[in-house]
Amino acid sequence: MSYRQATYDEPFLREFASGTTYEIPGDYGDAESRIPESLRRNNIEMPDIAEYDVVRHFTRLSQMNYGVDVGFYPLGSCTMKFNPKYADLVSSFPSFRDSHPLASEGLVQGNLRVMYELQEYLKEISDMDAVSLQPLAGAHGEFSGILIVRKYFQDKGQLDSRTDIIIPDTAHGTNPASAAMGGFNVVEVASGPDGTVDVEALRKVVSDHTAALMITNPNTLGIFEHNIFEISSILHEKGALLYYDGANLNAILGQTSPGLMGFDIVHFNLHKTFATPHGGGGPGSGPIAVRKHLQDYLPVPVVRRTGDRYNLDYSLKNTIGKVSSFYGSFGVLLRAWSYITKSGGDGLGMNSKIAVLDTNYISARLAGTYGIPFKKEKMHELVISSSSTGRRALDIAKYVLDKGMHPPTVYFPLIVKESMMIEPTETVSKQDLDRYCDLLELAAHEPADQLSEHPFNTAIGRIDEVRAARDQKLNWHS
Ligand SMILES: Cc1ncc(COP(=O)(O)O)c(C=O)c1O
Repeated sequence: MSYRQATYDEPFLREFASGTTYEIPGDYGDAESRIPESLRRNNIEMPDIAEYDVVRHFTRLSQMNYGVDVGFYPLGSCTMKFNPKYADLVSSFPSFRDSHPLASEGLVQGNLRVMYELQEYLKEISDMDAVSLQPLAGAHGEFSGILIVRKYFQDKGQLDSRTDIIIPDTAHGTNPASAAMGGFNVVEVASGPDGTVDVEALRKVVSDHTAALMITNPNTLGIFEHNIFEISSILHEKGALLYYDGANLNAILGQTSPGLMGFDIVHFNLHKTFATPHGGGGPGSGPIAVRKHLQDYLPVPVVRRTGDRYNLDYSLKNTIGKVSSFYGSFGVLLRAWSYITKSGGDGLGMNSKIAVLDTNYISARLAGTYGIPFKKEKMHELVISSSSTGRRALDIAKYVLDKGMHPPTVYFPLIVKESMMIEPTETVSKQDLDRYCDLLELAAHEPADQLSEHPFNTAIGRIDEVRAARDQKLNWHS
C-alpha cells in the first residue's frame, strides 16, 4: 500500500474570521436582569466564522493526522485499540448526551443506573470491594489513590513516619509524579535480570517508612511480575499498601485480577482497556477501586442503589472529597459500560488472550532482527532495542510513519537503550501484523544515513521535539 498524507497549508481559524468580536444578537428581556451586572456583556471576543469554514478546517486537520480509525496504532503502553462504533453510538443517544449535570436525581435515573452498573462491572473485573468513577484519567486516578494512601495513614497517626512510596525503575513517569505530588518521597526499586522487580532489592528498600508500593502488572516491559504474591506479603507485613496501576489491564482481563494479586487500590484507564479513542491527551477516565478497609476514603459521589432507585452518595466518612466537577467523564463511562456489556466476561477474556498472542507473534518474528531484552514470555506488549542494528529508534519510528503505519513508543521504558515498545492489542489483522514486522525489518536494513532522512510522506516532517514540548502556545491569540 503506498502512502502519502494529505497536506494543506492550513491557516489558523482566526484567519478565516471576518472579525474577532461577536455581537450577541437579540433582546433577552427578563432573563438579562437575572444575570449579575458584572457578568453581563454585549459582545464576546471570539472569532466570527461560518460553520462550513469551521467544519472544513477541522476535517482538513484530521486528514493531516493519524488515528485508530486510519490504521494499526501499536503505541506501547497506550492500548490504542480500534474502538467499536456502537460505543460512540450509545454515548451519543440524546437521552444521555443532552442530560444536564445539574438535573435532579429523579430525572436522570438511567444515567445513574449506567454508572452504578459500571461500578459493579469494575468491582467484578478487579476483584475489589468498592469503586468511584470520579477521576478523569489514569494519572488523575493515581493521584486520587495517593491521596487515599495519605489520608489512611493520617487517620492512623502514621503520616509523619510513612514518608516513602516505592516504585520500580520500569514505571511510567506518572507514577513517581503522582507520589511526589501527594507529598511522598519516591524510592526506586531496581528490576532484576529477568525484567521483573528484584525481590531482594525490594526487601532492602521496604521499611517502617514505606507507605505504599505502586506497580503495574504486567509491567511496562510487557512481563508479568511472577513474584507478585511475595511482593504483596513483603509490603503488607510492614503495614504498607499496594497500589495497582491499571494501565496494562488489557493483558489480564478474565485471567487474573489486582484483587487476587493482593492489591489494595487500583485505577483503571477506561479509555485504554474499555474503548474510547484517546489520542492527543483526551478524553479519559480513571476510576479507582479499593478494598473494604479503604472504601470510606473514595472520592465522592459514588452511586448507590436502593431497590430500583439510584442515588448519589456524598456521605462517605473519610472521603478525600471531590476530585472532578460533576460526575467524571460521563461520555467515557458510557462507552466503557457499553463495551463491557456487549463483550461480556468471555469476550473480555478472549480480547486479552488475542492481545497477548499478537504480541508474542511479533516477538517471534522480530527476534532475528532486533534485540529483545529479557527473554521471558511477553504479555500484551513487548520492548525491542535497535542498538544491535546500529540504527536509532527515532529514525526507525519516522520510517514506519512514512510507510503509513504508526510507530512504536520510543525511548520508554528508560532501562532499555534505543527502546521501542510495541502494543498491538487484539484489534489487528494477521496481514497488518506481518506488514508491520516487514516494515521494522526493512528499517533495520536501510542505510543509517538514509533512514535519518525520513519522513517524506507525512504532512509534518521532523520537528524540534524539545522546543515543541517546552515552548507551547496553546492560546488562539498567540
Ligand atoms: C503504565 C502507565 N501508567 C499510567 C499511565 C497514565 O495514564 P493516563 O494517560 O490516562 O493519565 C499510562 C499512560 O500511558 C501508562 O502507560
